[in-house]
Amino acid sequence: MAVKAWFLALFMVALLSCGESKYIVYNTTSTIVPGKINVHLVPHTHDDVGWLKTIDQYYVGSNNSIQAFFQRWWDEQSEAVKSTVKHLVSSGQLELINGGICMHDEAATHYIDMIDQTTLGHRFIKAEFNVTPRIGWQIDPFGHSAVQAYLLGAEVGFDSFFFGRIDYQDRAKRKNEKTLEVIWRGSKSLGSSSQIFAGAFPENYEPPSNFYYEVNGDSDSPIVQDNTNLFDYNVPERVNEFVAAAISQANITRTNHVMWTMGTDFQYQYAHTWFRQLDKFIHYVNQDGRVNALYSTPSIYTDAKHATDESWPLKSDDYFPYADRINAYWTGYFTSRPALKGYVRATSGYYLAARQLEFFKGKNKAGPTTDYLADALAIAQHHDAVSGTSKQHVADDYAKRIAIGYTEAEQVVAASLAYLTDSTSKTGSNSSSIKFQQCPLLNISYCPPSEADLSKGKNLVIVVYNPLGWKREDVVKIPIVDENVVVRDSRGKEIESQVIPLLLASVATRNYHAKAYLGKYPKVTPSYWLAFSATVPPLGFSTYIVSSAKRAAGASEKETVYVSDRSQNHTIKVGPGNLQLVYSGKDGKLTKYINRRSSVEESVDQSFGYYSGDDGSVDFQASGAYIFRPNLTYPIKSERQVPLTVFRGPLLDEVHQRVNSWIYQVTRVYKEKDHAEFEFTIGPIPIDDGIGKEIITKISSSLKSNKKFYTDSNGRDFIERIRDYRKDWTLEVNQPVAGNYYPINLGIYTKDTRSELSLLVDRAVGGSSIVDGQLELMLHRRLIQDDGRGVAEALNETVCITEKKCQGLTVVGKYYLRIDPLGEGAKWRRSYGQELYSPFLLAFAEQDGHNWISSHVPTFYGISPSYALPDNIAILTLQELEDGEVLFRLAHLYEVGEDKDLSLTASVELKKVFANKKIKGITETSLSANQERAEMEKKRLVWKVEGSYEEPKVTRGGPVDPTKLIVELAPMEIRTFIISFYS
Ligand SMILES: *[C@@H]1O[C@H](CO)[C@@H](O)[C@H](O)[C@H]1NC(C)=O
Ligand SMILES: *[C@@H]1O[C@H](CO)[C@@H](O)[C@H](O)[C@H]1NC(C)=O
Repeated sequence: MAVKAWFLALFMVALLSCGESKYIVYNTTSTIVPGKINVHLVPHTHDDVGWLKTIDQYYVGSNNSIQAFFQRWWDEQSEAVKSTVKHLVSSGQLELINGGICMHDEAATHYIDMIDQTTLGHRFIKAEFNVTPRIGWQIDPFGHSAVQAYLLGAEVGFDSFFFGRIDYQDRAKRKNEKTLEVIWRGSKSLGSSSQIFAGAFPENYEPPSNFYYEVNGDSDSPIVQDNTNLFDYNVPERVNEFVAAAISQANITRTNHVMWTMGTDFQYQYAHTWFRQLDKFIHYVNQDGRVNALYSTPSIYTDAKHATDESWPLKSDDYFPYADRINAYWTGYFTSRPALKGYVRATSGYYLAARQLEFFKGKNKAGPTTDYLADALAIAQHHDAVSGTSKQHVADDYAKRIAIGYTEAEQVVAASLAYLTDSTSKTGSNSSSIKFQQCPLLNISYCPPSEADLSKGKNLVIVVYNPLGWKREDVVKIPIVDENVVVRDSRGKEIESQVIPLLLASVATRNYHAKAYLGKYPKVTPSYWLAFSATVPPLGFSTYIVSSAKRAAGASEKETVYVSDRSQNHTIKVGPGNLQLVYSGKDGKLTKYINRRSSVEESVDQSFGYYSGDDGSVDFQASGAYIFRPNLTYPIKSERQVPLTVFRGPLLDEVHQRVNSWIYQVTRVYKEKDHAEFEFTIGPIPIDDGIGKEIITKISSSLKSNKKFYTDSNGRDFIERIRDYRKDWTLEVNQPVAGNYYPINLGIYTKDTRSELSLLVDRAVGGSSIVDGQLELMLHRRLIQDDGRGVAEALNETVCITEKKCQGLTVVGKYYLRIDPLGEGAKWRRSYGQELYSPFLLAFAEQDGHNWISSHVPTFYGISPSYALPDNIAILTLQELEDGEVLFRLAHLYEVGEDKDLSLTASVELKKVFANKKIKGITETSLSANQERAEMEKKRLVWKVEGSYEEPKVTRGGPVDPTKLIVELAPMEIRTFIISFYS
């Protein structure tokens, strides 16, 4: 990105020339001294890529010195400065650590985004410095994930991983037991093969108190005054304090190495003030000799720890949720800014597909490219961005960057599809003039190309691209103005379709937001949704043509509008396929879930409710952007009888419910899907009663879940959660709701001896199981107090259509429900979960007169037409690099033991994936593609674990034979390759 932040530890040995007799030459050359307490002084700064100010404002506002925003700074330097920096890096004085574009959040981020943003940073560092970062440095994120430790830690080749924020109760116990530093095995499936040495700091990431030396800083830490002529000469006192602080930290740390993080947010604006004092401390402390002080880096510290041959306690799972004191659980940000979270997720899936299409056409170096989107998405993973904890104008800035990147990527996709659909393009004739349009505002039912008037002989061409490696069928829905249309597939055969009225509620949402985002109200208003089922080959597209015609009788059932009647005591059954939802005719509530294929029949209830956000009047801890501090819980009862409207058809049934004036819900049951889809429209959340509200939905069942539920780690491994319980310490429960909230990126499920109840989500949210058999998701929050963690702004999002005319944010989103017999839920959570991440990409064109199908390529196969990837494998990355090589990343989607058929090693035939090219070379790399995998494994430090743990044998795929070109993947394995081709 033009601006990139790394978080770096830096240190410089002061170069002092000898001179006058009064001049003191500080001796800072010390290295590790065996047998003494070694205090590793690590100068560092931490510059957020946006928080209170935008990323650009921070860059310009702060001193243009080496602190952060490293890539932007780097690009502006002279060759002389660059060469000095390179020298500092190669001498080890300046260490590049973490090395992503940002220090990403660990709760609201999806693992694919974490990999992408880290890869972008690591490859830049590799290219410029020929360096591979060794250290993970996630000092500020608000809790730490298992995926961070094993995937973005061990699998990128880090030797250690350091962080600042863990639960205050956990921290107290770890200090007592000297277990702040551990060996963390984040993945059950990959076990010791992806473990990492991980250290939580004794406090935050500041220096010990009284050792803080920023110029103009607020701290009154005394400087070391060593001029004996002055009254405030204090060398002996300061040395004593230093030694005492070192001994006290050594008392809670294994081995005689302690690390002092000398810096904090936005430090070293005038680096001399820090280094001057550090020089003096090192000089006088070492003269004193009780402890040894040295300039160090996280690498030197890690190697020192490793060299001691100490055994370390084992840590599994993760460090969520995080509380920094009583009643202060940082679990609100799991949901904060749900629209930004949704935007990041939707764009992330789009970026994956856009890179594939960019590759199929061949990257156009002159642009447009997907590079800007890559940068924008990378920045959006920052721990104050997708987390929802920046100020409003900064959040707007992140969204703007994504929108700019999306717009360019949209052109890449359009050009690629024009090329691929053009039957002459392979013969090298002039580039196609087909203009493909896309509909990023489809979520508010706004799609100009599909709303075109087809009555005058025009046809609408829809190209449906499938970014997954397996063939799939899904229902496509687009707004249309006239119900008299038919849909034909690429063979010209009319296919089943269904029209569903577009209700007033959606039109209001559509018009308001079209005005807010595009500056004008739409000219036409569609009256219907057109739904049809699209079948698309793996990494390929299919074409569908919509044209004006009287709908053939029987092609689509006429929908029955069904409003429940209070006086009747009947039930309403919904669902054209295996799945049926049963609603009570009395109050319109969901009562039963019946699947005739799997014979599941379960009582379920779905409801909305809200927590009133604490206003901080009791103990100054309000609910806010970071913190979830519920006061009371309220069910949301419908204000009147819920009118239940059912639309039925051959492809799907829809149940519409206006829950109250600011919650609308559509529940969909598809003929070909065994899950229910809930689409909620929530907002504007009323706050005129002076109470902030956090809106939840609850799904209740009779499952005897015995306090247990499961949530994903960044969309990947599922972790068992037990209500009011922590594995690592005896939990003192003071927040029975907020303290049981966990981040959800893929889904949450619970089970008993018979069944599994699962929910999947379309963006990062917080959720829990507060009552047995029940799952809850927090979908939206609007608060009126700040929670005192620095952002200094209430989380009160609004959407404006003029300078003055604003209303509280409305969020439209989806979640998905399925109930399976015990042991059968993973198949849906994993495979459908991947489909949710990578929905069909739709592109629209107009056909005037002549036949599109006969003049264009209607069906495209990006891989061999006879081939599909196994059901348990996804392509995470297919991206053309600058030099024409391809970055290719495959992931096994299942954990060990999750599914009897799919938790097995699977293989992918590269010759069939790249059927149209001939592979010249293939290199397996680290996850972030900055070094060869074999080289990384060779360098990896081996750590000793305390106690004896029996571990089942860990499996991984074998090496790839360059002639057979078959890649094996074991459960949860992700493998990254750089592939070159014969041209
Ligand atoms: C500087 O300190 C180191 C130990 O920290 C010592 O070995 C060395 O002799 C000292 N150099 C001078 C010039 O005093
Ligand atoms: C070391 O830890 C023990 C127990 O945690 C505590 O009692 C003692 O005061 C500590 N000593 C120092 C010097 O901090």
